Amino acid sequence: MWKCEHVVGAGLDVEEVAGLYRASTLAERRPVDDVERFARMLAGANLVVTARTDDGRLIGIARSMTDGSYVTYLSDLAVDAEFQGRGVGRDLIRVTREAAPQAKLILLSAPGAVDYYPHIGFTHHDSAWTLPGLGA
Ligand SMILES: CC(C)(COP(=O)(O)OP(=O)(O)OC[C@H]1O[C@@H](n2cnc3c(N)ncnc32)[C@H](O)[C@@H]1OP(=O)(O)O)[C@@H](O)C(=O)NCCC(=O)NCCS
Repeated sequence: MWKCEHVVGAGLDVEEVAGLYRASTLAERRPVDDVERFARMLAGANLVVTARTDDGRLIGIARSMTDGSYVTYLSDLAVDAEFQGRGVGRDLIRVTREAAPQAKLILLSAPGAVDYYPHIGFTHHDSAWTLPGLGA
């Protein structure tokens, strides 16, 4: 079994979390090898939920930014491939929602997860818009 809990992102072990991103495949689309930038990603997210096995192994994470009231932006959802398909992702989202119950949850799906979100109750939105970062 596993346990999901709300944690402080800045308190996480950056290498441990980078290992999870790699084990989930999300590392292909996140700057995990830029350790300083990845550490800022973890520290800057104000709603971070982790899933750990009973013996403490990190097997999942949901990393969000929320105002605690109106909206929660879920940036990264990652589950170790060895533990996928057992309900860990669903549980991480449940705990994320419970941390800000009035807030709607918004995310951009990874290509491999486009069928996952409707499966667990999300509604498709056809007017999402993005701008790239300005760079360094
Ligand atoms: C997408 C991901 C977070 C899902 O987490 P998970 O713990 O494997 O999912 P769950 O076990 O909670 O799945 C719940 C249900 O969705 C289904 N499901 C899981 N992954 C799916 C996928 N990629 N596509 C469609 N359905 C999926 C499960 O079979 C399960 O169905 P059931 O309730 O009918 O049995 C996880 O597979 C992952 O980390 N993928 C790689 C990284 C990634 O793409 N992250 C998303 C970034 S936006």
